[in-house]
Amino acid sequence: MSDIARFSVSVESDLLELFDTYCQQEQFATRSEAVRQLIRDTLMRRAWESGTHEVAGSLTLIYDHHRSQLRDQLVELQHDNTDLIVATMHAHLSHDVCMEVIALRGPAGKLQQIASRLKGLKGIYKGELVMAIAHPEPSKSVAKKPPKRLPE
Ligand code: NI
Repeated sequence: MSDIARFSVSVESDLLELFDTYCQQEQFATRSEAVRQLIRDTLMRRAWESGTHEVAGSLTLIYDHHRSQLRDQLVELQHDNTDLIVATMHAHLSHDVCMEVIALRGPAGKLQQIASRLKGLKGIYKGELVMAIAHPEPSKSVAKKPPKRLPE
């Protein structure tokens, strides 16, 4: 964690009111916590556009238990990508439905590729990839050079 820096922000009062409502609804402890998260989310999205930044992700797949070919394909694809796949959790949701939660780590673009292949298999009802930057401090993973000091 890097040193904490303070800066002040000027916004229209009606925008601040909306922001405070947002902070309340999302149950942020402070405005600063909300601003930090919004900044991280924005910087992460930008980093992901390039697709080369190291991220951690979880892919949740809901699928038909009775398709044995699908089960084989899921296992095969995971064995072919052990550099990206960290762990897998399987849950039998019902007699017919399985859930697999796959933990991944690697470049965002590669995670998106393998997630698309897995989600696209026949018999998958639902697939969702959630990614988080592996290094929470954006200065280490996003900013290559020190930013210019911006006017407030
Ligand atoms: Ni199962």
